[in-house]
Amino acid sequence: MTEVVVRPRLESDLPALLSILRRSHATHGYPRRSEVVRADWLATPTELVGLVAEHAGRVVGHVALHPAAHGPDDDPGELQAAHRWSAATGVRVEDLAVVSRLVTDGTVRGAGRALMDAAGRSAARSALSPVLLVDPAADARAFYRRLGWQEIGTARQRWGENEVDAVLMVVGRP
Ligand SMILES: CC(C)(COP(=O)(O)OP(=O)(O)OC[C@H]1O[C@@H](n2cnc3c(N)ncnc32)[C@H](O)[C@@H]1OP(=O)(O)O)[C@@H](O)C(=O)NCCC(=O)NCCS
Repeated sequence: MTEVVVRPRLESDLPALLSILRRSHATHGYPRRSEVVRADWLATPTELVGLVAEHAGRVVGHVALHPAAHGPDDDPGELQAAHRWSAATGVRVEDLAVVSRLVTDGTVRGAGRALMDAAGRSAARSALSPVLLVDPAADARAFYRRLGWQEIGTARQRWGENEVDAVLMVVGRP
């Protein structure tokens, strides 16, 4: 069986990733807002890392790590989330990395898990602790739980016109 390989994202991956993001918006409602279905939303200037999953030479998914404070949205809700993650993990806000922009095309089993594992390893190499937030209505919530993540509360985020009590998650707590 061909393996899923995770590697750094290249500029040339963006058209394929945008197609995946369009499909995800249409079928999973992620992202919620159609106006952010854009390559520059996936690959933000403030990101720490951008990774893609490849299978049989084809790009099948994406994940990024963002700083916990002063990320792409720079919203007060983001800071609140950062402080809650910090309180739950005992890790300083500046030592957190937010696993973000996770999306797969759904054609290759294990791609999401491979991306999450690679994001975790990438954070660890920089001595950062991975955290994430998820739309309360997203089916990805169950995916993260399956991978061992735990919900530690919520923080209200402003996503365009919407205010959403995003679910905050951390990994590997006893
Ligand atoms: C969530 C998502 C990234 C999962 O990716 P994927 O490639 O389908 O996941 P994998 O095949 O690696 O699945 C890993 C495990 O999680 C399970 N799983 C996958 N999706 C799941 C879901 N929605 N609910 C519960 N479990 C799920 C799989 O069965 C598998 O379990 P196993 O290995 O123990 O058999 C993908 O469905 C997606 O892109 N969704 C839309 C975008 C999105 O919501 N992103 C998250 C934003 S916060």
